[in-house]
Amino acid sequence: MEFVLLNGEIIERSDAKIDVEDRGYQFGDGVYEVIRVYNGSMFTSEEHLARFRKSAEAIGIKLNFTIEEISAFLNQLIEKNNVVLGTVYLQITRGTSPRNHAFPSPGVPTNIVAYTKEVARPVENMKSGVKAMLIEDIRWLRCDIKSLNLLGNLLAKQEAVEAGCFEAIQHRGQTVTEGSSSNILMIKEGKIITHPADNLILNGITKRKLQEICIAAQIPFEERSFTIDEISQADEILLTSTTAEIMPIVEVNGKAVNEGIPGTLTKRLQELFETEIEKQCGELTIKI
Ligand code: PDD
Repeated sequence: MEFVLLNGEIIERSDAKIDVEDRGYQFGDGVYEVIRVYNGSMFTSEEHLARFRKSAEAIGIKLNFTIEEISAFLNQLIEKNNVVLGTVYLQITRGTSPRNHAFPSPGVPTNIVAYTKEVARPVENMKSGVKAMLIEDIRWLRCDIKSLNLLGNLLAKQEAVEAGCFEAIQHRGQTVTEGSSSNILMIKEGKIITHPADNLILNGITKRKLQEICIAAQIPFEERSFTIDEISQADEILLTSTTAEIMPIVEVNGKAVNEGIPGTLTKRLQELFETEIEKQCGELTIKI
């Protein structure tokens, strides 16, 4: 049996009903989070739930549960579904109301749902690295909001997948922004460089955690925008996300990066990140 969270209740998935006029379904009018679960414990859940609240506030959705209540629901869900290694998906929409672009009256309750999934660590890709391609970033100008509207991201990802790539590296003109579902970082002469956390990218929790790790380990980490010319001259390139963790990019647009193998610094970052996971969630059974 699989359980889900629906508006404060944990129920069987087959009993969960959302109306066809839910504003998330009709307009993508809502926000979401994906949180990693290792050994049955959520990793960096405080950061994810803080971002969830921030995204909701940015579009004028008021959470009708406290962060502590949501966190407790998610923990119950993980326990009921016996998730050991996986993810929790959490989303809130502006609720169910007759279709109208303008917001419904403030009394309309939001719809908040969550479900869990078993997800392995992508160890093979983490070890050997993945291919990526450059794609023009056609998304809106509030990519810092983790909005349900992901069409720009989906179109970029699909183009990359059809070209045999794992990820699309998006750029606005010369400026590299982020992946379709990840942040992009390049390494030049021992320094990690990544786009600043502004309105053009999602402020990734994995990347933030990596920054903390780098500061502690005295590895130079700089937030500044960089160009597609710079990325073509990078020593190493990597992507970060909740599910992909720290993933080496070993080819961009058919051109090998670091001779097509993960670089030394990227591998060190992966090790440091694994240590951080183990600190929060206990020993990992499958390691890189
Ligand atoms: N995606 N940028 C975009 C556009 C993303 O969708 C994601 C995550 C990230 C990385 O953020 P974080 O490190 O907090 O996961 C950056 C999630 C995993 C998803 O939509 O499935």
